[in-house]
Amino acid sequence: AAPLRIGLAGLGTVGIGVVKIVQRHADLIAARAGRPVVITAVSARDPKKNRDADLSGYAWETDPVALAKRPDVDVFVEVMGGHDGPAKAATEAAIAAGKDVVTANKALLAHHGQALALAAEAAGHVIRFEAAVAGGIPVIKALTEGLAGNKMRRVMGVMNGTCNYILTRMQSAGLPYETVFEEARQLGYLEADPNLDVGGIDAGHKLSLLSSIAFGTQVAFDAVELEGIGNVSIDDIRLADEMGYRIKLLGVAQMTGRGLEQRMTPCLVPAASPLGQLQGGTNMVVLEGDSVGQIVLRGPGAGEGPTASAVMGDVIDLARGLRLPTFGQPAATLAAAVPARSANP
Ligand code: NAP
Ligand code: HSE
Repeated sequence: AAPLRIGLAGLGTVGIGVVKIVQRHADLIAARAGRPVVITAVSARDPKKNRDADLSGYAWETDPVALAKRPDVDVFVEVMGGHDGPAKAATEAAIAAGKDVVTANKALLAHHGQALALAAEAAGHVIRFEAAVAGGIPVIKALTEGLAGNKMRRVMGVMNGTCNYILTRMQSAGLPYETVFEEARQLGYLEADPNLDVGGIDAGHKLSLLSSIAFGTQVAFDAVELEGIGNVSIDDIRLADEMGYRIKLLGVAQMTGRGLEQRMTPCLVPAASPLGQLQGGTNMVVLEGDSVGQIVLRGPGAGEGPTASAVMGDVIDLARGLRLPTFGQPAATLAAAVPARSANP
């Protein structure tokens, strides 16, 4: 069978992880997909940068839009980041050129998901984004496939590993926020703009994407009630501990009689509960459906291997011919999200 040909835009943490899986598991992937999956061309800013993988067999494009349009690319894999600029332009170019898209970019989809999904579906294509929410945890597959027969009641969880690392380290080592924030920076955990993490924005992006799938509504990131962890003090952590609680940056989305409620805020959770026990950069997503009841998914929310694992799950689905609509149902059928609370200022 003809190979599925990837154009890979972004050769950072996630992109290099994708290269390694494609190279390491070529036979296993071909057996599972029923056809080979290969990378034909790659793109990043700096062609001279030393990267932790053998890229010699791939064509190089410095412009990701040019990569997206190449005739030897079937699937455009976008792992550059940023919700505007090249990531958006290249994704639009890929759709216009008749490609499916796989992305890890939650910011892009939280801001432009509806328009991009409409464009892709009008062209007979799909955008897949398993890696964008909770890294290696296959939560989007769980919602769109395994739980498709449920009316979802609630989706909640810890979806930013950096914040969970900072809060658990403050609690376990008794260190103040500023010290642990600096530690997280040294460890390379923080996004280029750390406010995306500690401001709750990154986790809010993820929650808005899960809400869309769970409740059949258009992505409504602007309606997420957001509060980051910057104001959580060591005294708050100690007081919570004394009362038997942990503080977590917890996302909750539910459909209420007043509309869609989406909150991403620091919350008290019982110390002995699964959420209270969640350590370090781990994520946890809790899904509640009317038939299934409650499901708890826990795993690595970031990092090279886990995130590339999720990207490749999507790529292999496309190679198999599995082409589910971007948000689990055609984007044109998603209802307008009526927020239960006032939008963010
Ligand atoms: P990264 O390490 O910063 O890598 C970004 C890559 O994109 C780099 O190779 C960079 O090129 C390239 N790039 C950036 N701007 C470009 C441009 N204008 N033109 C061409 N190439 C450009 O980022 P990452 O951590 O891999 O994250 C990538 C995406 O995955 C983001 O959307 C992120 O939110 C998402 N994600 C990441 C993780 C994670 O654990 N890292 C987890 C889930 C989702 P150079 O190398 O030449 O600078
Ligand atoms: N900055 C994100 C986190 C990366 O810490 O969870 C994964 O999306």
